[in-house]
Amino acid sequence: MENRKEETIIRLEGLGKQFATANGTVTALDDINLDIRQGEVFGIIGLSGAGKSTLVRCINYLEVPTSGRVIFEGKNLSAMKEKEKRQARQSMGMIFQQFNLLAQRNVLQNVCFPMEIAKVNKADARKRAEELLKLVGLEDRMKAYPAQLSGGQKQRVAIARAMATNPKVLLCDEATSALDPNTTKSILQLLKKINKEMGITVIVITHEMAVIEAICDRVAIIDHSHIAEVGKVSEIFSGPKSDIGRQLILGDAAAQRATFGNSRQIRIIFDGRESSEPVLANMVLACKVPVNIMHADTRDIEGKAMGHMLLQLPEDEVDAGRIRNYLKTANVTFEEVR
Ligand SMILES: Nc1ncnc2c1ncn2[C@@H]1O[C@H](COP(=O)(O)OP(=O)(O)OP(=O)(O)O)[C@@H](O)[C@H]1O
Ligand SMILES: [Mg+2]
Repeated sequence: MENRKEETIIRLEGLGKQFATANGTVTALDDINLDIRQGEVFGIIGLSGAGKSTLVRCINYLEVPTSGRVIFEGKNLSAMKEKEKRQARQSMGMIFQQFNLLAQRNVLQNVCFPMEIAKVNKADARKRAEELLKLVGLEDRMKAYPAQLSGGQKQRVAIARAMATNPKVLLCDEATSALDPNTTKSILQLLKKINKEMGITVIVITHEMAVIEAICDRVAIIDHSHIAEVGKVSEIFSGPKSDIGRQLILGDAAAQRATFGNSRQIRIIFDGRESSEPVLANMVLACKVPVNIMHADTRDIEGKAMGHMLLQLPEDEVDAGRIRNYLKTANVTFEEVR
């Protein structure tokens, strides 16, 4: 399964999407180039209106791009014959923030629905639906109607339904945005399990960093219809290069200045040292200077410390110099702000 992650399953080439509206043309996507690899969990993050939903909708041709190409398993979607295109689209299951279940149908019937459309015979469809409901942990709610389920349960039904046509890719547009943190966690775990055990490529759209961090291998940050940066989650989180990446990950610098005044600060960047290593405690001991932690956003990703911490530098120039020197000799990545 490991080396399958090297193969590209979806390639976007110069993808663009414009909408004609009463107020003129809106460019939702502009020259998007992206490779999504077989078997990975790929995150797409950005602010509201950045173009995330349009991007996933173009990937499976729910929206037809105005320019560029979507290449699925080496083949250009727009050049495919209708039947082949339908098959390719069936290979991409989709789940939404609002679940989009059919209210008049029970759980089992909801999961059978895409198989009806695909003309799978009834008995086979039912058998497959039962297996999928077991996979998502709802085997005892098959006769329930959507209105009788919690949000998390509804999303589980939607996941089972998306899996009904044996997709190779699962597209998730803000799939956990309507759920509380614990339910979010359990849905993300389910997506990860589907990815790991069935080798299904998962594309996760979100505006929440925590979602990316929880399950994604790589991430693209999208901003005003463009891709601002793309890379491994651990790399982007420890050193975002784009303005929007810094804003999303490090927080809004302007907002921080407003909160903390104009004093000199140092930002320590944790980019993967052992999370058990007490950088700050060692620094305070070595420099004999107390420091103020203004803001910290660090996390433990597989035993490595990731994130950043904002410290107020002492007014005394000698003390401040000692701290800088300590950080340099200890090989701690840092930058001075203001
Ligand atoms: N059908 C449409 N007609 C006109 N404009 C549209 C249409 N769909 C999207 N847009 C515009 O395209 C831009 C991108 O929208 P999109 O829904 O892709 O953003 P998003 O990143 O998913 O935002 P959110 O986080 O709020 O869901 C926005 O300016 C939006 O108004
Ligand atoms: Mg959206």
